[in-house]
Amino acid sequence: MRVKTNGSIWKWALGMVGLVALMLCPLGTIAVAHAQTLTGRWVAQGRTLHNGEQEKAIFNLKQDGSKLTGTIRGMGFEVEIEGTVNGAHFEIFGKGWNDKKPFLVGDLLDGKLTGMQWDHKFEALPATSADEFPKLAYIEPPALHKVAYNGLAKTPPMGWNSWNLFADKVDDQTVRTMVDAMVSSGMRDAGYIYVNIDDTWEGLRDEHGVLHTNSKFPDMKALADYVHSKGLKIGIYSSPGPRTCGSYPASYGFEEQDAKMFAAWGFDFLKYDWCSASTIYSNDKLQPVYQRMGDALQSTGRPIVYSLCEYGMGGVEKWGPEVGGNLWRTTGDIRDEWDSMIDNIEKQVPTAPYAGPGHWNDPDMLEVGNGHMSADEYRTHMSLWSLTASPLLAGNDIRTMSDVTKSILLNKEVIAIDQDPLGKQASPVKNGDLETWVKPLADGGVAVGVVNLGASTATATVKASDLLPGKKVKSARDLWTHADVKFTDGSYSASVPSHGVLLLRVAAK
Ligand code: GLA
Repeated sequence: MRVKTNGSIWKWALGMVGLVALMLCPLGTIAVAHAQTLTGRWVAQGRTLHNGEQEKAIFNLKQDGSKLTGTIRGMGFEVEIEGTVNGAHFEIFGKGWNDKKPFLVGDLLDGKLTGMQWDHKFEALPATSADEFPKLAYIEPPALHKVAYNGLAKTPPMGWNSWNLFADKVDDQTVRTMVDAMVSSGMRDAGYIYVNIDDTWEGLRDEHGVLHTNSKFPDMKALADYVHSKGLKIGIYSSPGPRTCGSYPASYGFEEQDAKMFAAWGFDFLKYDWCSASTIYSNDKLQPVYQRMGDALQSTGRPIVYSLCEYGMGGVEKWGPEVGGNLWRTTGDIRDEWDSMIDNIEKQVPTAPYAGPGHWNDPDMLEVGNGHMSADEYRTHMSLWSLTASPLLAGNDIRTMSDVTKSILLNKEVIAIDQDPLGKQASPVKNGDLETWVKPLADGGVAVGVVNLGASTATATVKASDLLPGKKVKSARDLWTHADVKFTDGSYSASVPSHGVLLLRVAAK
């Protein structure tokens, strides 16, 4: 069993914490064991999954005076923690992934740990051997070789994914109504083609190794047919570990069988999420483990976009294409908050040289329209994802989009920047609170975005000599006001609100 120690485990800081929160509420009861110390193994019962299984997590803690270290292992993950103890009171942080605010706070009282995990109550009892997770046989990953490019994702994939908004509440009916809305809202025609079902569709694996759906998805083939009948494509989700991040059965040991089934159902996209693979494999096995599914997908003969989700560990941008990957996450899970969005895009910066047609860096799905950022912040979000040639996978409710949300997600001039066939990922230059991102375009021009990271309005100035060295500006257009603008004496200035963006497309003479 191995613990994630890589700093790029933002996924755990964000998604995982959310996930742990889900799993620990409501918690069971406790028994005493460790009298006056937190040292020992504790078990917290979680929710009942949609496939009838019961979630649980084991806290393996070591108290040394006021210092606490250890791990928390759920069915779908394992994370390192550290914390403080003051009398009976303890506070637990994620080591390297959640240093600022404790995600578990509680007391050791009457032999049980009781407290809050974020805003959910939890209780943990001393664990017995019956609570331990079963040990699985180690499967040696294959020797490395190059998986041939599948010819897909020549521009960054666009579509919709269920996770950001619905998490485990996604079901067949929701997907169908979302598909209808993708068509009626114009999302499909704007290029958002993939409708991706994320985690929690899984049922149980039978004695023949067949992984069934749970009752939320009575007939995947029929659902895929429906999605295809609307001119869209459909995506599914699994993990190379025994369990997904949401604790559901995953593809460990069943990669080829699962790939065949996904293809037979008619899937066009697979998001493959590391999750509990960390309890089996160390990070030096990331590449061969991902290669195994890359091979399995290829041998189905169906064109399936392969999305690696391992939060940017192990230099994935360097070997992603070798395993047949078309996109790979570069960060942990995004949250619908300015800081999280900016953090994710900045983490993606070092990967810029590795983006290109067929293989893209993915700073996670869009939060535009989910309600916790301002319109300016969402315009910045959409601009940054487009300047960096990131996949545009909407994560909001397409059925009820406001006009502002529509004006952002359906801005065809901005989408064209993302989808530019040259496939270059912009990198930022910082000047005080202003950050300037320049993306070379196939027509010899550039897109330039100036983001105001500060708390007050600022004036952004862009110079033609920086944007188009050795060339002249032929024309320029503000992609959010949809107006042509003029460079005067070789520069253009505009006022940019706090957390807003100036986004121009500049054509060269
Ligand atoms: C991880 C991924 C998320 C989502 C969840 C599902 O946290 O990073 O995007 O897929 O798992 O459990």
